[in-house]
Amino acid sequence: MMGTSEGLTFAENKYPFWRCGLQRKEGCTLHKISCAIAFLLAVTVPEQGFSADKELGETRYKKSCISCHGKAGKGAASYPKISGNPVTYTIEKLRLYREGIKQGPNSALMIMMAKPLTDEEIDNLAAYLEDAE
Ligand code: HEC
Repeated sequence: MMGTSEGLTFAENKYPFWRCGLQRKEGCTLHKISCAIAFLLAVTVPEQGFSADKELGETRYKKSCISCHGKAGKGAASYPKISGNPVTYTIEKLRLYREGIKQGPNSALMIMMAKPLTDEEIDNLAAYLEDAE
């Protein structure tokens, strides 16, 4: 295929190192390092510096969760305390419930409550609940 190999030659001479794949070794090393950094950012940012909105979480909480889990997620009667957990824990739990996966003896209630939640609402709720007072 002449057309393709001409394209490759062109790319190799003209394109800067970060256009990897067709490139020289040193270029690829740099490329790999920058890819690694981008990858690390991509996997760590959503867990830590993620942009959830605690205030929206609180509003949502007061709308549909407070009746069972009590003020600030402190728990009430037979309903578990849900504040004070790491954001990732709460997100995981809510996603499992949303998928209809049973976790404790009374999951049916929570599955029903979690069904309508969007990813964003779950993130916001988790951020609010982590240190809700
Ligand atoms: C009708 C009562 C009720 C409502 C309303 C409710 N929950 Fe629950 N929630 C429960 C029950 C009961 C459990 C324990 C379920 C089980 O046994 O798996 C639970 C468990 C949880 C858990 C897991 C706790 C743990 O550590 O295992 C989280 C997180 C949670 N609820 C968050 C919420 C959020 C957020 C809302 C509002 C969108 C909400 N709940 C609304 C009754 C309720």
